[in-house]
Amino acid sequence: MKRDKIIKMTEEFVRQNLKGHDSGHDWLHIDRVRRLAAFINRQESVADPFVLEISALLHDSADSKFSGRKDEYGYEQIGKFIETAGMTEIKDHVINVIRNISFSNKNPSGSLNDPVLLIVQDADRLDAIGAIGIARAFNYGGFRNNAIYLPDSNPDSKDSSTIAHFYEKLLKLRDMMNTPTGRSIAEERHQFLEIFLKKFIEEWEFDYNQQ
Ligand code: ADP
Ligand code: NI
Repeated sequence: MKRDKIIKMTEEFVRQNLKGHDSGHDWLHIDRVRRLAAFINRQESVADPFVLEISALLHDSADSKFSGRKDEYGYEQIGKFIETAGMTEIKDHVINVIRNISFSNKNPSGSLNDPVLLIVQDADRLDAIGAIGIARAFNYGGFRNNAIYLPDSNPDSKDSSTIAHFYEKLLKLRDMMNTPTGRSIAEERHQFLEIFLKKFIEEWEFDYNQQ
Protein backbone atom coordinates (compact mmCIF):
# COMPACT_ATOMS: atom_id res chain seq x y z
CA MET A 1 0.00 0.00 0.00
CA LYS A 2 1.19 3.55 -0.74
CA ARG A 3 2.23 5.63 2.24
CA ASP A 4 -0.30 8.43 1.64
CA LYS A 5 -3.06 5.84 1.49
CA ILE A 6 -1.88 4.36 4.80
CA ILE A 7 -1.87 7.85 6.34
CA LYS A 8 -5.46 8.46 5.13
CA MET A 9 -6.55 5.09 6.56
CA THR A 10 -4.89 5.91 9.87
CA GLU A 11 -6.60 9.31 9.98
CA GLU A 12 -9.96 7.58 9.46
CA PHE A 13 -9.22 4.98 12.20
CA VAL A 14 -8.28 7.77 14.63
CA ARG A 15 -11.35 9.88 13.86
CA GLN A 16 -13.60 6.87 14.53
CA ASN A 17 -11.72 6.09 17.71
CA LEU A 18 -11.88 9.58 19.17
CA LYS A 19 -15.62 10.04 18.72
CA GLY A 20 -17.14 11.01 22.07
CA HIS A 21 -13.95 12.46 23.55
CA ASP A 22 -14.05 16.00 24.92
CA SER A 23 -13.15 18.59 22.35
CA GLY A 24 -9.73 19.26 23.91
CA HIS A 25 -8.81 15.69 23.08
CA ASP A 26 -10.33 15.44 19.67
CA TRP A 27 -9.17 15.00 16.12
CA LEU A 28 -7.94 18.61 15.95
CA HIS A 29 -5.62 17.96 18.93
CA ILE A 30 -4.23 14.98 17.05
CA ASP A 31 -3.75 17.09 13.93
CA ARG A 32 -1.92 19.82 15.88
CA VAL A 33 0.34 17.23 17.50
CA ARG A 34 1.10 15.69 14.13
CA ARG A 35 2.01 19.10 12.66
CA LEU A 36 4.07 20.14 15.69
CA ALA A 37 5.92 16.81 15.65
CA ALA A 38 6.73 17.21 11.94
CA PHE A 39 7.92 20.77 12.60
CA ILE A 40 10.24 19.66 15.41
CA ASN A 41 11.61 16.85 13.25
CA ARG A 42 12.29 19.24 10.36
CA GLN A 43 14.49 21.26 12.73
CA GLU A 44 16.24 18.25 14.18
CA SER A 45 16.07 15.49 11.51
CA VAL A 46 16.31 12.66 14.01
CA ALA A 47 13.22 10.56 13.39
CA ASP A 48 11.76 8.66 10.49
CA PRO A 49 9.00 11.03 9.22
CA PHE A 50 6.56 8.20 8.38
CA VAL A 51 6.84 6.41 11.75
CA LEU A 52 6.62 9.83 13.41
CA GLU A 53 3.40 10.76 11.60
CA ILE A 54 1.74 7.39 12.28
CA SER A 55 2.75 7.55 15.96
CA ALA A 56 1.48 11.12 16.33
CA LEU A 57 -1.82 10.14 14.72
CA LEU A 58 -2.30 7.13 17.00
CA HIS A 59 -0.87 8.57 20.24
CA ASP A 60 -4.24 9.05 22.03
CA SER A 61 -6.14 6.11 20.59
CA ALA A 62 -5.60 3.79 23.58
CA ASP A 63 -6.62 6.32 26.26
CA SER A 64 -8.75 4.50 28.83
CA LYS A 65 -9.96 7.71 30.49
CA PHE A 66 -12.46 7.98 27.66
CA SER A 67 -13.03 4.48 26.35
CA GLY A 68 -13.62 3.18 29.88
CA ARG A 69 -11.63 0.05 29.06
CA LYS A 70 -8.14 -0.97 30.00
CA ASP A 71 -5.26 0.50 27.97
CA GLU A 72 -4.16 -3.04 27.01
CA TYR A 73 -7.35 -3.43 25.02
CA GLY A 74 -6.53 -0.17 23.22
CA TYR A 75 -3.02 -1.36 22.35
CA GLU A 76 -4.45 -4.60 20.96
CA GLN A 77 -6.91 -2.71 18.78
CA ILE A 78 -4.19 -0.40 17.53
CA GLY A 79 -1.91 -3.36 16.85
CA LYS A 80 -4.64 -5.04 14.81
CA PHE A 81 -5.21 -1.86 12.84
CA ILE A 82 -1.49 -1.46 12.14
CA GLU A 83 -1.39 -4.99 10.73
CA THR A 84 -4.50 -4.48 8.60
CA ALA A 85 -3.00 -1.30 7.19
CA GLY A 86 0.11 -3.23 6.14
CA MET A 87 2.53 -1.65 8.64
CA THR A 88 3.50 -4.79 10.58
CA GLU A 89 7.20 -3.88 10.40
CA ILE A 90 6.64 -0.70 12.44
CA LYS A 91 4.03 -2.14 14.84
CA ASP A 92 6.29 -2.70 17.86
CA HIS A 93 7.92 0.67 17.38
CA VAL A 94 4.62 2.59 17.25
CA ILE A 95 3.08 0.67 20.16
CA ASN A 96 6.18 1.40 22.25
CA VAL A 97 5.74 5.13 21.55
CA ILE A 98 2.06 5.09 22.51
CA ARG A 99 2.71 3.11 25.69
CA ASN A 100 5.30 5.54 26.95
CA ILE A 101 3.97 8.91 25.89
CA SER A 102 1.62 9.83 28.70
CA PHE A 103 2.53 12.35 31.38
CA SER A 104 0.81 10.06 33.84
CA ASN A 105 2.58 6.90 32.67
CA LYS A 106 3.84 5.32 35.85
CA ASN A 107 5.21 2.17 34.27
CA PRO A 108 7.61 3.11 31.52
CA SER A 109 8.93 0.15 29.55
CA GLY A 110 10.88 -0.53 26.37
CA SER A 111 13.00 2.07 24.61
CA LEU A 112 12.63 5.48 26.24
CA ASN A 113 15.28 7.23 24.15
CA ASP A 114 13.59 6.68 20.83
CA PRO A 115 13.55 9.98 18.85
CA VAL A 116 9.99 9.31 17.65
CA LEU A 117 8.79 8.98 21.25
CA LEU A 118 10.73 12.06 22.37
CA ILE A 119 9.31 14.24 19.58
CA VAL A 120 5.67 13.10 19.81
CA GLN A 121 5.86 13.52 23.60
CA ASP A 122 7.15 17.09 23.18
CA ALA A 123 4.45 17.89 20.63
CA ASP A 124 1.72 16.45 22.91
CA ARG A 125 3.03 18.42 25.90
CA LEU A 126 3.34 21.64 23.90
CA ASP A 127 -0.34 21.36 23.00
CA ALA A 128 -1.12 21.35 26.75
CA ILE A 129 0.53 24.76 27.35
CA GLY A 130 0.29 28.25 25.81
CA ALA A 131 -3.05 29.72 24.73
CA ILE A 132 -4.30 26.43 23.33
CA GLY A 133 -3.25 24.58 26.47
CA ILE A 134 -5.26 27.03 28.59
CA ALA A 135 -8.31 26.59 26.36
CA ARG A 136 -7.98 22.80 26.54
CA ALA A 137 -7.60 22.81 30.32
CA PHE A 138 -10.80 24.82 30.89
CA ASN A 139 -12.58 22.76 28.30
CA TYR A 140 -11.57 19.55 30.08
CA GLY A 141 -12.53 21.05 33.45
CA GLY A 142 -15.97 21.94 32.04
CA PHE A 143 -16.35 18.45 30.64
CA ARG A 144 -15.65 17.07 34.13
CA ASN A 145 -17.80 19.74 35.78
CA ASN A 146 -14.82 21.00 37.83
CA ALA A 147 -14.60 24.49 39.32
CA ILE A 148 -12.39 26.97 37.49
CA TYR A 149 -10.70 27.93 40.77
CA LEU A 150 -11.10 27.00 44.45
CA PRO A 151 -9.08 29.59 46.40
CA ASP A 152 -8.97 27.79 49.74
CA SER A 153 -8.86 24.21 48.57
CA ASN A 154 -6.47 21.65 49.93
CA PRO A 155 -4.05 20.77 47.12
CA ASP A 156 -4.62 17.06 47.83
CA SER A 157 -8.38 17.39 47.61
CA LYS A 158 -10.15 15.21 45.07
CA ASP A 159 -12.35 18.02 43.77
CA SER A 160 -9.53 20.07 42.41
CA SER A 161 -10.01 22.99 40.06
CA THR A 162 -8.67 23.74 36.62
CA ILE A 163 -6.34 26.41 38.05
CA ALA A 164 -4.96 23.71 40.39
CA HIS A 165 -4.22 21.62 37.30
CA PHE A 166 -1.86 24.38 36.11
CA TYR A 167 0.25 23.83 39.24
CA GLU A 168 -0.09 20.05 39.23
CA LYS A 169 0.88 19.62 35.61
CA LEU A 170 1.00 22.46 33.11
CA LEU A 171 3.70 24.57 34.78
CA LYS A 172 5.93 21.49 35.02
CA LEU A 173 5.91 20.68 31.32
CA ARG A 174 8.49 23.26 30.19
CA ASP A 175 11.20 21.54 32.19
CA MET A 176 10.21 18.14 30.87
CA MET A 177 10.86 18.87 27.18
CA ASN A 178 13.09 16.38 25.37
CA THR A 179 14.26 18.29 22.29
CA PRO A 180 15.92 21.71 21.87
CA THR A 181 13.13 22.82 19.50
CA GLY A 182 10.49 21.66 21.99
CA ARG A 183 12.24 23.54 24.79
CA SER A 184 12.33 26.76 22.85
CA ILE A 185 8.62 26.64 21.91
CA ALA A 186 7.78 25.61 25.49
CA GLU A 187 9.60 28.63 26.90
CA GLU A 188 7.29 31.07 25.12
CA ARG A 189 4.14 29.09 25.88
CA HIS A 190 5.15 28.73 29.54
CA GLN A 191 5.55 32.50 29.87
CA PHE A 192 2.04 32.91 28.54
CA LEU A 193 0.72 30.54 31.25
CA GLU A 194 2.42 32.68 33.88
CA ILE A 195 0.99 35.91 32.48
CA PHE A 196 -2.46 34.33 32.40
CA LEU A 197 -2.23 33.09 36.00
CA LYS A 198 -1.00 36.47 37.22
CA LYS A 199 -3.94 38.28 35.60
CA PHE A 200 -6.38 35.62 36.80
CA ILE A 201 -5.33 35.99 40.44
CA GLU A 202 -5.20 39.79 40.17
CA GLU A 203 -8.78 39.86 38.94
CA TRP A 204 -9.88 37.28 41.53
CA GLU A 205 -8.36 39.30 44.35
CA PHE A 206 -9.58 42.64 43.09
CA ASP A 207 -10.52 44.83 46.02
CA TYR A 208 -14.13 45.77 45.29
CA ASN A 209 -14.26 48.00 48.39
CA GLN A 210 -11.51 50.32 47.32
CA GLN A 211 -12.41 53.98 46.96
P1 ADP B 1 -1.86 12.83 28.79
O1 ADP B 1 -2.34 12.51 27.39
O2 ADP B 1 -0.44 13.31 28.84
O3 ADP B 1 -2.20 11.74 29.80
P2 ADP B 1 -4.13 14.12 29.70
O4 ADP B 1 -4.95 13.17 28.90
O5 ADP B 1 -4.09 14.00 31.19
O6 ADP B 1 -2.65 14.10 29.20
O7 ADP B 1 -4.56 15.58 29.35
C1 ADP B 1 -5.07 15.97 28.09
C2 ADP B 1 -5.55 17.42 28.15
O8 ADP B 1 -6.55 17.59 29.17
C3 ADP B 1 -4.45 18.40 28.51
O9 ADP B 1 -4.64 19.61 27.81
C4 ADP B 1 -4.60 18.59 29.98
O10 ADP B 1 -4.08 19.81 30.44
C5 ADP B 1 -6.10 18.50 30.15
N1 ADP B 1 -6.42 18.00 31.49
C6 ADP B 1 -6.16 16.78 32.01
N2 ADP B 1 -6.56 16.69 33.29
C7 ADP B 1 -7.08 17.91 33.59
C8 ADP B 1 -7.70 18.47 34.75
N3 ADP B 1 -7.83 17.79 35.89
N4 ADP B 1 -8.14 19.76 34.69
C9 ADP B 1 -8.00 20.47 33.56
N5 ADP B 1 -7.46 20.01 32.42
C10 ADP B 1 -7.01 18.74 32.43
NI1 NI C 1 -2.53 13.89 23.10
